[in-house]
Amino acid sequence: MNSTPEADWLNLLIGLLQGAQLQLLRVLDALGLAQHVYGQPAWPWARRLSGENLLIDLGQARSLAWTLVFVAVAVLALLLAFLWRRPRYYLLALVPMLLIAAPWPEPRVVLVPATPASFHASPTGFTAESIAQGRVLYQQNCVACHGANGKGEVPLAASLAVWPPDLSGPLLWRRADGDLLWRILHGTRDAQQGGQPTMPSFAAKLNEADAWALVDYMKAQGAGQSLRALGSWPQPIGLPDMAVRCGAQPPRLLASWRGQRVRIVAGGAAPVEDPRLVTVLLRPPSSAVATSADCVADSAAAWEALALIAGTEQLAGTQLIADRDGWLRARGAPGKAGWSDDDLLCRSERAPVAAAEQVAAALPADGLGALIARMDAQPVRFVKGGFIH
Ligand code: HEC
Repeated sequence: MNSTPEADWLNLLIGLLQGAQLQLLRVLDALGLAQHVYGQPAWPWARRLSGENLLIDLGQARSLAWTLVFVAVAVLALLLAFLWRRPRYYLLALVPMLLIAAPWPEPRVVLVPATPASFHASPTGFTAESIAQGRVLYQQNCVACHGANGKGEVPLAASLAVWPPDLSGPLLWRRADGDLLWRILHGTRDAQQGGQPTMPSFAAKLNEADAWALVDYMKAQGAGQSLRALGSWPQPIGLPDMAVRCGAQPPRLLASWRGQRVRIVAGGAAPVEDPRLVTVLLRPPSSAVATSADCVADSAAAWEALALIAGTEQLAGTQLIADRDGWLRARGAPGKAGWSDDDLLCRSERAPVAAAEQVAAALPADGLGALIARMDAQPVRFVKGGFIH
């Protein structure tokens, strides 16, 4: 999707809307006009501009983009009218004409209900520990309705007024993280049935750190379920952060290599190093054998988190590659020698094949080289509350 010229301006438009709203909130906060909830400034309005709907409704996105252009020209005309006396009345007459002529988008599509936490950013850093914490909380509080796999296909679901949604689909990615947090803590209501509660509130049982951990867990679980069902990660998923030891150096976080490609090799044997990637050996939780690998991670939480994302109980032998931005992109199945294009699990629908092949041609013709070229040529684009992949 990110190869089309359309996706480029759409990405820009959504980024602009998100950035402008976030800046507005920051300014309000700096002026002391914003209240705080869950440690971050609260969005004071009941609605916000929606990036996620624009991704789906290209026609409305186009209308909005043109309207913004019309409004910008109208503002410019107003400014000029103030500065420039002679054509003042022509310029002032132009303003309402522009505003009438603009192809205003439908408010219902562009404006969506907001929660006070709509613009909250997760503070967890998407760590393996946070996913592990979320797993325990999910088992305790959510599994009865949403099911172990998040699909909501449980006997209890039939007795609920509204069927629980499929948490392994694109829903979690379409929502702003802060809205997910808010709904977990405050529950949900059905708009059609006069505001009847559909999911109970968990504010009495969980705090915001718990809810953020649940968001991390649900995303990791959703990625694993997608991989099982579709053989790919249609929604981008980050490489969970974990502590890594390299030789005698003090432990460091995986995220400290952001900007470089990272390969995780799960298992006991030291992998062959490759200059194109940072290689980390992820050892099974109980292994006590010494290893000659340069960099090693061995927390049980990290093993579990990656098994969850890879959608497998047999993680040993699996290799995972994250790109320079920390997104997981490729998986090498256990026992498979070498890499191929098929291992790229997080890719664009309409790939800019020509561009990628051009880059690939310049690199060594091994599978990994081609894979890396493809990965680099198609970065994951990310917009909060709406992904372009
Ligand atoms: C009593 C059953 C029940 C329990 C328990 C429950 N949920 Fe839900 N959940 C639902 C239903 C029903 C919906 C659909 C609500 C709707 O669309 O109005 C839902 C929706 C959601 C959504 C989607 C919200 C959205 O933005 O559309 C998320 C995320 C979610 N639940 C997470 C959780 C988490 C996390 C827990 C555990 C802390 C949990 N749920 C516990 C029934 C439940």
